[in-house]
Amino acid sequence: MVRGKGMRVGLLVGREKSFPEALIADVASRHAGVTVEYAELSAPSALEAPPYDVLVDRISHEVTVYQPYLKLAALYGTRVVNNPFWRIADDKFFNAGLASRLGLAVPKTLLLPQKAYGPDVNSESLRNLRYVDWEEIARKLGFPMYLKPHWGGGWKSVSRVTDMSELMAAYDKSDQLTMILQEDIHWTQYLRCLVIGQRDVRPALWDPRLPHAERYKRAHETMPRMSVELTALVMEGALKITQALGYDMNTVEFAVRDGVPYAIDFMNSAPDFDIASLGQAHFDWVVGRMGELVIDLAKTPTAHRYRWDDLLRGAH
Ligand SMILES: Nc1ncnc2c1ncn2[C@@H]1O[C@H](COP(=O)(O)OP(=O)(O)O)[C@@H](O)[C@H]1O
Ligand SMILES: [Mg+2]
Repeated sequence: MVRGKGMRVGLLVGREKSFPEALIADVASRHAGVTVEYAELSAPSALEAPPYDVLVDRISHEVTVYQPYLKLAALYGTRVVNNPFWRIADDKFFNAGLASRLGLAVPKTLLLPQKAYGPDVNSESLRNLRYVDWEEIARKLGFPMYLKPHWGGGWKSVSRVTDMSELMAAYDKSDQLTMILQEDIHWTQYLRCLVIGQRDVRPALWDPRLPHAERYKRAHETMPRMSVELTALVMEGALKITQALGYDMNTVEFAVRDGVPYAIDFMNSAPDFDIASLGQAHFDWVVGRMGELVIDLAKTPTAHRYRWDDLLRGAH
């Protein structure tokens, strides 16, 4: 019997269509004994193993019912892309520190106390927090600055502020969100690396100033080409940070200032894989690498080990 026959890969998706459809077709065309399908659940039991060898999670950041399901699936041995525990724990403040400690350049980054708290929190609950010295912060980071949520994506609640009054207005609006403040990297080139399977990296120019559908496609018209040295540097950095985070699909953004690539956003654990954004060549590359990855994972029951695996093995 062929090993891996009848392996099932489940997809959890939102509104996207092009990527999941292409992944299903790609894996079918490889005749590897692995089927990709849209996962289905209604009221799953904690005491039963989900019927998938691999689950690819594209949407649990928005549909939170999938979060406990994916963790449970991992408990029963399903290989989950991306790691369902780290996906929830990850944040941009920690990430900046991690990237820096791994030797990447990152913008100066500060964590701010929330502007507002829920009704159960009063001044006594906040005894550990001291007043923020905004003037000192302005001296440290300089204007402009980026104010953004420590956990988020899709540019939600991200502001670029150019003076103290804009900073105060944006901070006031952040309400109960936990925010970070970052030095603005005044860049001459901006890059995005697609990273799949903690192994394959595809670097591309990407211009955040352009409309969504043109950011990859027209970036070569708006900024200088990547040199060989820069390409090697960002590929190495993107791989290192993605391996450190343990993500099997990710995009890592760099802003290049004075020839130095600064890591900006690498918490993209459900990266935009839509053909309209990526264009045909990047899209085909992503689908191919993801196809290979899910087949590898379907056939590798020991991938992604957790501490309880050892304890459960001991128990049987
Ligand atoms: N420190 C920074 N310096 C320069 N540009 C930044 C900085 N932080 C964010 N940006 C710009 O803002 C965009 C959105 O910020 P990002 O951290 O990626 O938030 P999100 O995760 O919501 O996409 C980035 O793609 C980049 O163009
Ligand atoms: Mg981003």
